[in-house]
Amino acid sequence: MKVNKAIIPAAGFGTRFLPATKALPKEMIAVIDKPLIQYTVEEILGAGIRNIAVITSQAKSVMRDHFAPSPELESFLKAKGKLDLLEEVRKISKLANFTYIRQPEPLGLGHAILMGERFAAGEPVAALTPDDIYDCLVSCTKQLVDAFAELRGTVIVLGRVDREGTKKYGIIKVKRQVSDRVFEVADMHEKPGPKKAFSDLGILGRYVFTPEIFDAIKRTSADSRGEIQITDAIRVLLDTQPVYGLLFEGKRYDCGNKLGFLEATIALALKHPEFRGPVKKIIKANLS
Ligand code: G1P
Repeated sequence: MKVNKAIIPAAGFGTRFLPATKALPKEMIAVIDKPLIQYTVEEILGAGIRNIAVITSQAKSVMRDHFAPSPELESFLKAKGKLDLLEEVRKISKLANFTYIRQPEPLGLGHAILMGERFAAGEPVAALTPDDIYDCLVSCTKQLVDAFAELRGTVIVLGRVDREGTKKYGIIKVKRQVSDRVFEVADMHEKPGPKKAFSDLGILGRYVFTPEIFDAIKRTSADSRGEIQITDAIRVLLDTQPVYGLLFEGKRYDCGNKLGFLEATIALALKHPEFRGPVKKIIKANLS
């Protein structure tokens, strides 16, 4: 039950970030000095996974460029003696084995993950939305992969959410608590809102799936907007096998909206050895 592969669905239009995302993929917006998708890739590597499929739309070849070698830039940096930057740039293209898969139409997160079926080739697979930056001592994906090895069933990452969160995230119903941080899932709803929410346990964009997820997605009907939701597909999976939720340890920044993105930028800058002092000064100066 070793997990060797991960899927990053990155084919959306990034409408919550317009106009920034008119030409630039949302996943390429940088927090401090790294695009969002690079944080996701590094988290995956932190779980020992090196095979990554990025699900893209037509307009996103810039992500492929980011993870590919850049000979012109490399010779420029070499000629200028900027060896630290050269090392940094070279490292990116050696991070992992990337596969790029087109999602022909934006038909939802479930449909995007289904595009990775051939890549998964009957093996278990992790899926991560690049909207989130997880800042954890142990990579959040590693926490999920370890839980998967123990539980031998699909595991999704959970966090406690407030009333607003029930409108933004899928929410689970607990069947039983397995241990301190692990729950067996009875049911789940996609963004139910506070009145219909089963609990305050939200699904936060990280999954490790058994191979049966792909058949479950195929058996899932589209929602009222014509999209196939992964939450609905996991409900279908629940008919035939157990699904677990893991309360992760660490901090998560929801960069899928502008305020969360700002929070991530400020919080990570305040943790950054080079920027901590200056950023504190900037904040102080602007508050007075
Ligand atoms: C997706 C999932 C939702 C999950 C969320 C986490 O929603 O459908 O269940 O809670 O990611 O970020 P989206 O943010 O793509 O609308």
